Amino acid sequence: MTTTRPEDIIRPDVLSMTTYAVADAKGFVKLDAMENPFPLPAALAAELGEVLAGVALNRYPEPRPAVLVDKLKQVMGVPAGAELLLGNGSDEIISMIAIACAKPGAKLLAPVPGFVMYQMSAKLAQLAFVGVPHRADLTLDVDAMLAAIAEHKPAVIYLAYPNNPTGTLYPDADIERIIAGAKGSLVVIDEAYQPFAQKSWIGRVLDYDNVVVMRTVSKLGLAGIRLGYLAGPPVWLKEFDKVRPPYNVNVLTQAAAEFMLDHVDVLEAQAAELRAERGKLSAALAALPGATVFPSAANFLLVRVPDADAAFDALLNAKVLVKNVGKMHPLLANCLRLTVGAPIENAQMLAALERALK
Ligand SMILES: Cc1ncc(COP(=O)(O)O)c(C=O)c1O
Repeated sequence: MTTTRPEDIIRPDVLSMTTYAVADAKGFVKLDAMENPFPLPAALAAELGEVLAGVALNRYPEPRPAVLVDKLKQVMGVPAGAELLLGNGSDEIISMIAIACAKPGAKLLAPVPGFVMYQMSAKLAQLAFVGVPHRADLTLDVDAMLAAIAEHKPAVIYLAYPNNPTGTLYPDADIERIIAGAKGSLVVIDEAYQPFAQKSWIGRVLDYDNVVVMRTVSKLGLAGIRLGYLAGPPVWLKEFDKVRPPYNVNVLTQAAAEFMLDHVDVLEAQAAELRAERGKLSAALAALPGATVFPSAANFLLVRVPDADAAFDALLNAKVLVKNVGKMHPLLANCLRLTVGAPIENAQMLAALERALK
């Protein structure tokens, strides 16, 4: 009798992978995933509930929901003439870009340490990944980027604006130099943390022929609905749309997003509160013995401590979950990434970290 085993069928690189680990956060103060900690006001949640109750779950979603797309364009300042492509989170857009660009020998380049899904998408679509290290202070090494672009001629270059997990907001002049030096590449500016950076390239997306801007509603307070979008010249988006699974954004997400875009002021006020908290938290962390805080334009702070493993364990014991990124990249040695939470959560985290560092 012959049997078919996964090892005979599945790609060797997939067999040797591990699944993306998500920590079980039940009972913890959850400061590991850059979520907005604030719930919707009860009256708004009830109204949303009514809207969702009216959604036809028996029907497939609209593949290109015109009303939602127009609303997103208007609310998010997408310039006239630019096109918008929706994804099941920007994670899905990242994988669509990789799939569409995966010609034999094609490469994908990004500064490192950076968002892990860029490298993951390259691996899964079998593109070579080129990581260009940041400088020791975690700022962008533009000369190294330009040299790597000239050497590798990547199909795709990712620039997270600001970057995860460093929080760095690259200067516009640096990005301009990279766009100018990347004439043979597509530059994807990832603005996942735009609500906290309050700076954007979206209005300039038609000023170049090799730039697209990616956004998500996740960090704004809607991580659970999974909606990302890509803005750019129609000639590019038309191609990415071909690899999009036809019904990738479900009916509940479409309805919830449309509703929330009419109430985006609520989410923007929450983001403003988090920006204020970020400032306070950053100052308090910097005052802890042995802690170095990096400047952040996002809703998280990267902090270097004398022993990140010990600090992480102490936080876990205090029921606070953060991200220990110390082993992710040599430049992040002994670094923790702390999501900016609600004031009470930040206080709890700070108190536990202070105890750990004393
Ligand atoms: C830089 C960056 N881009 C994209 C994403 C993914 O966002 P989404 O929730 O839309 O998949 C993240 C999530 O952490 C991120 O840090």
